[in-house]
Amino acid sequence: MRAVRVTEWGGPEVLKVHPDVTIPEPQVNQILIKVGASGVNPVEAYKRTGRDAKSMSLPWTPGTDCAGTVHKIGLAVTNFKPGDRVYTFGSVTGTYAEYAISTEDNVYLLPDQLDFKAGAALGVPYFTAYRALIQRARAEAGQTVLVHGASGSVGIATLQFAKAYGMTVLGTAGTPEGMQLVRENGAKFVFNHRQDGYMDEIMTATSGEGVDVIIEMLADVNLQKDLEILAPDGVVAVIGSRGTAEIKPALMLGKESTIIGVTVRGGVKGQKSRKVISAAINAGIQSGWIKPHIGKEFSLEGAPQAHHEIIDGPGALGRIVLTVP
Ligand SMILES: NC(=O)c1ccc[n+]([C@@H]2O[C@H](COP(=O)([O-])OP(=O)(O)OC[C@H]3O[C@@H](n4cnc5c(N)ncnc54)[C@H](OP(=O)(O)O)[C@@H]3O)[C@@H](O)[C@H]2O)c1
Repeated sequence: MRAVRVTEWGGPEVLKVHPDVTIPEPQVNQILIKVGASGVNPVEAYKRTGRDAKSMSLPWTPGTDCAGTVHKIGLAVTNFKPGDRVYTFGSVTGTYAEYAISTEDNVYLLPDQLDFKAGAALGVPYFTAYRALIQRARAEAGQTVLVHGASGSVGIATLQFAKAYGMTVLGTAGTPEGMQLVRENGAKFVFNHRQDGYMDEIMTATSGEGVDVIIEMLADVNLQKDLEILAPDGVVAVIGSRGTAEIKPALMLGKESTIIGVTVRGGVKGQKSRKVISAAINAGIQSGWIKPHIGKEFSLEGAPQAHHEIIDGPGALGRIVLTVP
């Protein structure tokens, strides 16, 4: 099969397509998927640089999220059969390839309403969005929610959940196109996080009351500002951060503010919450309001460009996918 392989850590150029990789065999509890599309996440670009080199080995094929068709199943797999349309959150062999292996507990049936590109946008983005908004921040209908960094793949997913669950949604983006996309996906108020004074505009939009919940994509830049605009009893749920932050903790006292971290756990510990999340995603797809937005698509050969886009592109527009014909 063709698969992207990294044989040395480095920049996007180390992502190379190898034409003759052996198709892996699924073990007892594993599923071999013929990949239709693979999702691109920022974490794969961080890892490609060698950030986690001590715990990873080369050659390495990136990718957690894909959608495609079940090709072969291990002996103990009971919930899937060859031919099923599926999506993943987790892969043993990496999804930037024509075939990928996932364990059965990381595979979910893909409803007919979504094609493989949309399916490749469900795993990390929608699982993380629900984990942050509902399971960690415990946001409720009627509350105001700021999605700080709403134009990317996790941001769009968070907007859709917040709108559907009856929250008043505010979102930010860094370009006019991103702001338009944020508006179309449920934000009542949209701001440009590259413009000075936008946090004042957010306070004005909430009539000076502040925001109940902030879902934060870049905490090293925004955490202090978030604490300033939080309403009493407010919560900042940190999804993304690329460095350190200086904050004034005293701001948290009078308002009894909370800062929490977010991750979607794997293994036995994460199974219960992941089951809940996949059911919520399925319900949203059946009802028609979960609609992943694909901003850019590339072939496997375009993986270097996709990694350049996700870290240094001009502005996010939903999900980046690699299509695998
Ligand atoms: N904790 C977890 O388990 C977990 C899971 C998934 C993702 N993440 C992390 O969460 C972040 C978002 O992931 P993603 O997949 O949505 O990435 P993405 O598609 O690349 O989107 C990045 C988002 O950050 C926004 N952004 C850029 N500068 C910003 C600023 N100054 N303030 C606020 N937002 C800003 C971008 O807006 P513009 O491009 O429009 O400027 C865009 O909306 C990444 O750091 C990722 O590594 C963490």
